[in-house]
Amino acid sequence: MTFTFVTLFSNLVEGYFNDSILKRAIEKNIFRVKYLNPRDFSLNKHSKVDDTAVGGGAGMVMNPQPLFDALDSLKKEDENVHIIFLTPVAKPFVQNDAKRLSNKSHIAFVSGRYEGIDERVIEKYADEVFSIGDYILTGGELASLVICDAVSRNIDGVLGNSDSLTIESFESALLEAPSFSKPKLYEGLNVPSEYLKGNHSKIRSLKIALSECKTKFFRPDELKKHCQGVK
Ligand code: ADE
Repeated sequence: MTFTFVTLFSNLVEGYFNDSILKRAIEKNIFRVKYLNPRDFSLNKHSKVDDTAVGGGAGMVMNPQPLFDALDSLKKEDENVHIIFLTPVAKPFVQNDAKRLSNKSHIAFVSGRYEGIDERVIEKYADEVFSIGDYILTGGELASLVICDAVSRNIDGVLGNSDSLTIESFESALLEAPSFSKPKLYEGLNVPSEYLKGNHSKIRSLKIALSECKTKFFRPDELKKHCQGVK
């Protein structure tokens, strides 16, 4: 699997892969990460990549030319590359997308900066367009990292224990039950006594009840789906 980050600011992205689980996955050759800077494709004599918006409006918009050429070069190298644009004007990214996308051989994330990307680039090259939430970031880099992280942990071999994939929040409509580590008593605070007794069917029932409580409190919309058996 290859992830290519198409960005003017690869420094914002690189550090995320320098530690922990994703670093180990790269060392094990489970996936690799590449960077493509649209500025390297700019035909402007000052390597400009943005301009004021046609028709007026605040801020600068990324020009089509550097992105057209960058994405053409990417597609020439690998015709199977799956190109994803990050923008708040898109469908929300969810866990099912993370699972589905983990089967692709090559994903490219195109991050906009400034006020956005010329719409013609998105129309011509986007296989998918995602938002990571109802708020505006200064650029798509964080959003692309969020999606890359969520996708990569679904690739075989990235997580040590694949059980952790099957019992997570959003695998059903319910949020995950709370977890506790040792010691069993810390600063006068106990873990739930049922967790300690070793009766696995009782622990399972308690975890389901706690999952329902958490979901009712934090995500009543998801609890409704659970009750209707949508998921
Ligand atoms: N770029 C700026 N805001 C964003 C968001 N919420 N999701 C994805 N890309 C973005």
